[in-house]
Amino acid sequence: MRRWGGRFTGQTDERVVDFTRSIEVDAALAADDIEGSMAHVRGLGRAGILEPAEVDGLIEGLRGLAVEVEAGDVAWDPALEDVHMNLEAALEARIGPVARKLHTGRSRNDQVATDLRLWTRRAIDRLVEAIIGFERALVGLAEREIETVLPGTTHIQPAQPVLLAHHLLAYVEMLERDRGRLADARRRLNVSPLGSGALAGAGYALDREASARELGFDGPTANSMDAVSDRDFVVEVLAAAALSMVHLSRLAEEITWWSNPAFGFVRVADAFSTGSSMMPNKRNPDPAELVRGRAAGSIAALTAMLGILKGLPLAYQRDLQDDKPLLFGTVATFEASLGVLTGLVETLSIDAARMRAAADEGFTTATAVADALVGRGVAFRSAHQVVGALVAAAEARGVRLDAVSDEEVAIALRSTDDGAALALASDRAAGAGHVLRAAASVEAAIAAMDVVGGTAPVRVRAALASARERLGPG
Ligand code: ARG
Repeated sequence: MRRWGGRFTGQTDERVVDFTRSIEVDAALAADDIEGSMAHVRGLGRAGILEPAEVDGLIEGLRGLAVEVEAGDVAWDPALEDVHMNLEAALEARIGPVARKLHTGRSRNDQVATDLRLWTRRAIDRLVEAIIGFERALVGLAEREIETVLPGTTHIQPAQPVLLAHHLLAYVEMLERDRGRLADARRRLNVSPLGSGALAGAGYALDREASARELGFDGPTANSMDAVSDRDFVVEVLAAAALSMVHLSRLAEEITWWSNPAFGFVRVADAFSTGSSMMPNKRNPDPAELVRGRAAGSIAALTAMLGILKGLPLAYQRDLQDDKPLLFGTVATFEASLGVLTGLVETLSIDAARMRAAADEGFTTATAVADALVGRGVAFRSAHQVVGALVAAAEARGVRLDAVSDEEVAIALRSTDDGAALALASDRAAGAGHVLRAAASVEAAIAAMDVVGGTAPVRVRAALASARERLGPG
């Protein structure tokens, strides 16, 4: 049974068999394992180690096996430990003893490293597509709500009004970086360990360049010991995924707050809400909550992988087997989170009037008013004092900043010991009250933020157009 059992006389303890087995997890590598085996077989043929007829027989057998794997028809035998042994045995059952030549010049160590790079490369391509889909959903919502205003916060307190589109585009920026990190990882991982053997290389004249090219790799790895034990690419993908999950979690957190009726900013569609078993009134944004919760698991996977690597001497050590549940689990969670949030955002209803009303609260235009005073020659520190006094006056009277009287403006201007402010206070003809009230509207405050990266509508429209250009329609 044990395909490595030649030197053993005793049986393996059943607990060890159970403990070391990985087929339940690494069966996911089957298609990649077969692809790698095909490249290896052709390489053995090119090196004259296999006869052309043997190459043909093995390739044909592997093709048949690939179809079986694709159809889910392979019965994985737990006694065969892992996907590599299972496929080799299945190949032998299919085409006979020539299958026993497959593992020439190869170890499971370079084999699994090759398989995992192929798997990860495909996973990255899927993830990047899923991120693009989510970015498109955010951009679509921003385009639909291009006029919508909300109170931007710092310290969770009302700070300055911003366009909702600007807020959403902040997440698009994060996701663009996330996509870039995955693309970086893909570039670095795209080398072929095949031909590295167990750790020292292969004792056959294998053309590693050729087999690397055949598998779509940029070239062979440069050092066999590194090749069989390097899982940096797993760490890089886990790090990129953990950070992106953190970004998704931040948006998920905002959506949970915004959908609370006390905010009433958004309504999550029925399709993305769930109810309570006890409280008939409940509509819960559970998908968003679970994205937030599962970000924790992604962070844990990254730290677990780093922990696995930190104590490993060269070269391959069995600890490395446990990279797969971490990577597979994180990729699945990340992909599912992107899918569910994409749908949630696509179907999200926005209450623009509620957002706008909230932006009018909390004196969110105070900074814009201070800036208007600066425009009249007042030093910013003094303008800050003046507007602070105006906020206090407006708050005491229960009015907004755009409803302060000329008298209140005059008093506030005099409240500073600053020369410029005093000059302006005495210059009633300059219409200071009118200037400040005009600057205090939400629209004026937003329009004033007219710098690259600012929330002025002209800037946001340009940013939105360039995001749309980058991402394509959809
Ligand atoms: N299941 C192993 C892994 O994932 C495959 C390589 C095993 N190599 C070995 N010498 N036992 O790392």
